[in-house]
Amino acid sequence: MIFIAFIAIFRYPLSAFSFSQPIIMSAIKTIESTNLSGKRVFVRVDFNVPLSNANVSDDSRIKAALPTIRHLSKQGAKVILASHLGRPKGKVDPAFSLAPVASDLEAKLGQSVRFVKDCIGPDVDAAVAEMANGDVLLLENVRFYAEEEKNDPEFARKLASCAEAFVNDAFGTAHRAHASTAGVADYLSPKVAGFLIEKELAYLGDKTNKPERPFTVILGGAKVSDKITVIDALLDKADTILIGGAMAYTFALAQGRSVGKSLCEPDKVETARAALAKAEAKGVKFLLPVDNLAVDALDFGAGTVGNSKVFEGNIEDGWEGVDIGPKTVELFSEECRKAKTILWNGPMGIFEIKACNRGTFAIADVIANSEATSIIGGGDSVKAINKAGYGERVTFMSTGGGASLEFLEGKTLPGVAVLDKA
Ligand code: 3PG
Repeated sequence: MIFIAFIAIFRYPLSAFSFSQPIIMSAIKTIESTNLSGKRVFVRVDFNVPLSNANVSDDSRIKAALPTIRHLSKQGAKVILASHLGRPKGKVDPAFSLAPVASDLEAKLGQSVRFVKDCIGPDVDAAVAEMANGDVLLLENVRFYAEEEKNDPEFARKLASCAEAFVNDAFGTAHRAHASTAGVADYLSPKVAGFLIEKELAYLGDKTNKPERPFTVILGGAKVSDKITVIDALLDKADTILIGGAMAYTFALAQGRSVGKSLCEPDKVETARAALAKAEAKGVKFLLPVDNLAVDALDFGAGTVGNSKVFEGNIEDGWEGVDIGPKTVELFSEECRKAKTILWNGPMGIFEIKACNRGTFAIADVIANSEATSIIGGGDSVKAINKAGYGERVTFMSTGGGASLEFLEGKTLPGVAVLDKA
């Protein structure tokens, strides 16, 4: 068997793709250039964190908001924090209360954080009236009101009524045009980005728009349909794109290979071919796995697999691809070693199951040991890099899931679009 990287060979019209213009960080006004001393500031953060037995089980998003909160408090602003947690469907549900987050935040800040059991109304007004300069207060889950997700103007006005200025630091929710992320901006001024949004836009935007080259992108995850817009946008920027995860099986189908019972989207084969054609037309090195680990049985809930086997090229009937194989790990690692900028979004296989995590962890390892600027584009890849123990060894890990993807796709994020221009 000759081990070849499958580089695009198909010719499809490039008109299938759109070209986009992402937001440039220098265009947005930030808290750094804004004096909010003595002001009541409505600060939207993304404290949508996982809870376990009413304790925060992953505090990355809380830690990521600390620089903005500390800066505002030190400056003498009255810091009124607002966030959503989960999807309580517009109703009060104690399981989605932000109370546990207030305790966690208090411990991290080393100063008291007053928690108010509502996000609008007389209790909020009374608590805010008692704030001294530098105090920090956390409002209850804004999604306890259905009006939040509807971006209802009257609800936005009520939310904003306790404050004078708006700081948005909720990058993870900036792709939602909700009352607390976008609507409040109609009633508050100035409206500026916090340090987290500034950092996210700098890494996901500026560093990938003008990357130090070679710029290598590693994309994984389940579906071509979820990632095709981001692949399209990155084909305009990257030198090399490495494809892993289940979406590689749809690309394999596009190249006429068999994939056994692997997860794939036969109706997206044309889309995959168009991406391959664009890669060829633009001279982007577009590499698919040359081998895959496959299993004959899989129980995700139990975390178990049946027999396993590595296939080079075609995957036989009855076998399901669950990870990239050892030759692909070597091929992809070699590309990462040559890179000066690396962007990773999406795992290489079912990394949640031990028997299928080798490829994903090997990529995490090579990225952690690389000299390149390494940007981890949120969601599962952040989970994977943390699980591999390399969280501290990459240049930047995004706190956004959907927001990072939409931003990388070149979409305008409503929570950023409403902010003052620099
Ligand atoms: C996220 O976790 O991606 C953000 O907090 C947004 O949450 P949502 O998908 O429920 O809007």
